[in-house]
Amino acid sequence: MKLLKGLILCAGKGTRLYPFTRSRPKTLMPVANTPLLHFSIMKFVELGIRQVGIVVHPSQEADIRGLFGDGGAMGVELTYIDQHEPRGIADALKQARAYIAEEPFLLLLGDNLISASLKDLKDDIELGGVQASLLLAEVEIPQDYGIAVIRDSCIVGLEEKPAMPKSNLAVMGAYAFTPAIFDAVDEIRPSKRGEYEITDAIQWLIQERRVVSYRVTDQLNIDVGTMERWLQANQKLLEAKGSKNNIHESVILERCTILEPVTIARDCVLKDCRIGPYVSVGAGSKLENVQIENSILLNGVHASHLPFPVKQVIFGEHAIVAGVLASEEVKKA
Ligand code: G1P
Repeated sequence: MKLLKGLILCAGKGTRLYPFTRSRPKTLMPVANTPLLHFSIMKFVELGIRQVGIVVHPSQEADIRGLFGDGGAMGVELTYIDQHEPRGIADALKQARAYIAEEPFLLLLGDNLISASLKDLKDDIELGGVQASLLLAEVEIPQDYGIAVIRDSCIVGLEEKPAMPKSNLAVMGAYAFTPAIFDAVDEIRPSKRGEYEITDAIQWLIQERRVVSYRVTDQLNIDVGTMERWLQANQKLLEAKGSKNNIHESVILERCTILEPVTIARDCVLKDCRIGPYVSVGAGSKLENVQIENSILLNGVHASHLPFPVKQVIFGEHAIVAGVLASEEVKKA
């Protein structure tokens, strides 16, 4: 059966990215000046999947709709589905059951930046006989992920964030399912962290002897769940864009050194700055006499006369950061 639907989960609170996620949903956080959710929707566009459900908390819907509307501009039909309590990925699936109906679908976690194509996962399901197909990748800190145990090329078990991981093969935030997954989500109980875990639901499928396949990727996949990984995602994406700068034509640069790759959005003014490499500057920012490397500036940041170079920093929306002018500079100013 052809797989025609995609689902993106966006309802998480994003507490590890507080305070940034207090004013904006995590999936709208920019990476290389592009909201994360844009990349997820593009994964479906690439595969010709036009029907896309977005699971949101009701408080996030206006912001997300404000940017993506009904999806027409990206060539998809977006349907917004509410998840009132962030009770886990498997619970989000329950909320989306009516939308998915009895069809196979692809699932993406909206806070993951996935480079690998999802075509193999889609093919696994469309060829028939497989109930779930997972994207796996080796990770450095398996304790932060759902971990797969493989024996004789078969997944024999999955564990959510194990203290003593049996492998370093992590489940990335991309899955393909048949509606059999809905039987599984009805059977599981909340985990110790109080969530209905997708790993438990897939483990149930394995125990019921349903076929779960997997694909291992070595391409860039980042769960943008922490500040470090957000900065890392920004760096990797700027790198992937061919180390070229992307500076909007409205940007004013005076006496600046720009070390590529950087991206600077519209209506920014930069004077006497050294910016880059790996810096994203949000729209309407005003920077004067600062040195910034490997950082993310959200929209409307005002930073001036910082006495030391800044590295690995995320500046919040409309942040104002000012250093002190040396006395001779005060005379010039
Ligand atoms: C979730 C899943 C986990 C998966 C990870 C990928 O974790 O529960 O199995 O490996 O996404 O990013 P969470 O984002 O809830 O920490």
